[in-house]
Amino acid sequence: MSFDQPVGTVNDVARSAPVLEVEDLRTYLYTRWGTTKAVDGVSFTVGSGETLGIVGESGSGKSMLALSLVRLTPEPAGKIVGGRVILNGRNLLDLTDKQMRAVRGKEISMILQDPQQSLNPVFSIGDQLAEAIRVHERDLDDRATHERSIDALKSVHVPAPERRLKNFPHQMSGGMKQRIVGAMAMAYHPQVLVADEPTTALDVTIQAQYLRLLKDLQRRTGVAIIVITHDFGVIAETCDRVAVMYAGRFVEEGPVEEIFDQPRHPYTRALLDSRPKVDVRSTRLQSIEGQPPSLIDLPTGCRFAPRCFYSIDRCVAEYPPWFEITHAHTAGCWRSEEVPWASR
Ligand SMILES: Nc1ncnc2c1ncn2[C@@H]1O[C@H](COP(=O)(O)OP(=O)(O)O)[C@@H](O)[C@H]1O
Ligand SMILES: [Mg+2]
Repeated sequence: MSFDQPVGTVNDVARSAPVLEVEDLRTYLYTRWGTTKAVDGVSFTVGSGETLGIVGESGSGKSMLALSLVRLTPEPAGKIVGGRVILNGRNLLDLTDKQMRAVRGKEISMILQDPQQSLNPVFSIGDQLAEAIRVHERDLDDRATHERSIDALKSVHVPAPERRLKNFPHQMSGGMKQRIVGAMAMAYHPQVLVADEPTTALDVTIQAQYLRLLKDLQRRTGVAIIVITHDFGVIAETCDRVAVMYAGRFVEEGPVEEIFDQPRHPYTRALLDSRPKVDVRSTRLQSIEGQPPSLIDLPTGCRFAPRCFYSIDRCVAEYPPWFEITHAHTAGCWRSEEVPWASR
């Protein structure tokens, strides 16, 4: 069974009612070389207490998608040109900048890849937390602000929080800075947390710790988490569902175990195969040949076709619709039902 790709919401099997619904989102970057279609018709939902992973190679538009959800796309090049982002019954794209500032951090928060980008080197952690708190509670006195800051640090298990408040970013490890950023993002118990490559700056042990911390916050608060990564290992550890992004669009989406066991898009297969292997005898491809297409000049057919080992004439001529594999699992490949890559 198939249906038209840009129209249908990919699936809404979020275990609970969806808290965030994204419909046909389009974010373009206007540069002097042309229009980069970084996000080009993306739809998905995420439910409370659920973790959705978005995975894809560098340059596929993941960060632009994340930034669009909180309306922080780069100025002046980036413009959200279409779609809807529905949270708590309204379209965030319709809000004024002032209204959006009240929503950001309170209903939907974002953790950036590099904590340096979120922390100002010249202010203490205490000052920065206080500033973040005053965005939402302008009239809070110093004592109450201090208490709130301590609570925020305790929620992410920062030891000796009183002392930490006096620290400056350069006095802390990468892992500790990432925790502080997490504390700021979660201070108001948002319903949605967007974490863009939350762990790439950290070593593997600290990464695992940080991911456990986010999951722990989720158990306590029911926050819906969107984890953005290029690493299927991170997806396996943290996510319930995963969407695979290629050249500005989703190409496959479904429950994590099902996608690992039975990828129905050759790009997903290739991404899974390019993970570091424990078994050195594996004969599968270790990396994906070729480059992703330029997002300025996109092919008419399937965007992966030029790099795809299994592409047929139709793939080049016509953009594939979504194929429903199971209720929860969809793939946008003409050969999704035939799965020629399964027998390798
Ligand atoms: N500030 C910017 N100005 C112009 N183009 C940008 C900017 N940031 C990213 N891009 C382009 O947008 C596309 C998507 O980038 P991005 O969302 O960062 O991908 P990912 O996060 O998946 O690596 C890329 O082609 C990138 O070159
Ligand atoms: Mg990115």
